[in-house]
Amino acid sequence: MSNKTNIIHSIGDWNHFIDTMAAGRIIVLTDTNTSKHCLPLFESKYLRASQFTHWEIEAGEANKTLAQAEQLWTKLMHREADRSTILICLGGGMLTDLGGFVGSAYKRGIRTIYVPTTNLAMTDAAIGGKTGVNFGGVKNQIGTFHKTEAVLVDPEFLNTLPAREIESGFAETIKHALIADASLWQTLLAKPLTDCANNAKILLQSMNIKQRIVESDSHDFGVRQSLNLGHTIGHAIEAISHESENPLLHGEAVIFGMLAELYISKECAGLAESTLDEISSYLTSNYRFNHLNKMDKTQMMQHMLNDKKNTKGRITFSLISNIGEPTLGIHVSDEIILKSIDFAQHRLTNEIHP
Ligand SMILES: NC(=O)c1ccc[n+]([C@@H]2O[C@H](COP(=O)([O-])OP(=O)(O)OC[C@H]3O[C@@H](n4cnc5c(N)ncnc54)[C@H](O)[C@@H]3O)[C@@H](O)[C@H]2O)c1
Ligand SMILES: [Zn+2]
Repeated sequence: MSNKTNIIHSIGDWNHFIDTMAAGRIIVLTDTNTSKHCLPLFESKYLRASQFTHWEIEAGEANKTLAQAEQLWTKLMHREADRSTILICLGGGMLTDLGGFVGSAYKRGIRTIYVPTTNLAMTDAAIGGKTGVNFGGVKNQIGTFHKTEAVLVDPEFLNTLPAREIESGFAETIKHALIADASLWQTLLAKPLTDCANNAKILLQSMNIKQRIVESDSHDFGVRQSLNLGHTIGHAIEAISHESENPLLHGEAVIFGMLAELYISKECAGLAESTLDEISSYLTSNYRFNHLNKMDKTQMMQHMLNDKKNTKGRITFSLISNIGEPTLGIHVSDEIILKSIDFAQHRLTNEIHP
């Protein structure tokens, strides 16, 4: 089965696509924020006179649960949804992951369409076929690989997304440029971040990079690991920050993780110092965190060792040797990891240490 996602970005293509779907009942699933901010636009621009049923769930990662999935399966059963039913998931990555999971398992799979409304969901969560819910305190512990029928991208949905969410979600586009596309990187350098984040062409370029990488490695055993740049250290700081008063958003943690892992790339993968400088100047001029000072590095190391991606007590990194050139599966000494955390911390906080 091809893993290629059908990405739609014009009304004409959308209308044609919907006509070919032979839809029975259409259910539009939103969360409490996307009901308010995105459903009116989606309805007027894309659903026109179509009959649809609207279901809403609570917004927030805490609702990406098996219990929530079960409620939706129960509703689908009571409404006698069958294999002609189409579940449209209108929301961020929380909603596309949950809705995709629900759709993939109900009656062994009904058709889903994703309409991502955050830049993170457009360029990352909606592409690649992974669905899931959090379980037993572990993110995305239960899930499936499921091919959605289409992903509809429309930057207009981003007009209501809070600036902090946009900036955070943009971390994945920066990552895509760094691991796969030197010319996209040059584009990012040339324009303010806010102009890039809702730019249709850049969004599509970023989606296509993820698409290309995932296509060549649909079940996550090989080159897909390049997408982990910034995520080994990023996940650790994200998890720790969630125990504090200032939880980081995922992309913010990835920015920290990328800075640290680019330092490691210089030490262990041959990344030129001048390239590290160029990237870190870009990141630190666009992102700044004032509350990172109290970070506990021992706790971070422990988190990384417990990460499921690491084997036999060794922390593994996906690095780059140049822009667009990933280097995978690198084991790194604790000493260099600790230095990289200092590097990122000093660059990102207002207290610049000598
Ligand atoms: N499946 C994958 O491959 C994959 C990849 C990356 C991330 N993810 C998942 O994606 C999730 C994070 O996605 P996210 O950052 O989009 O989070 P999210 O879906 O929780 O959205 C963030 C917040 O923005 C609100 N929102 C969404 N669109 C809006 C809009 N247009 N206007 C106003 N508010 C809006 C949401 O209600 C929520 O409060 C995580 O669950 C993560 O595990 C999955
Ligand atoms: Zn990520």
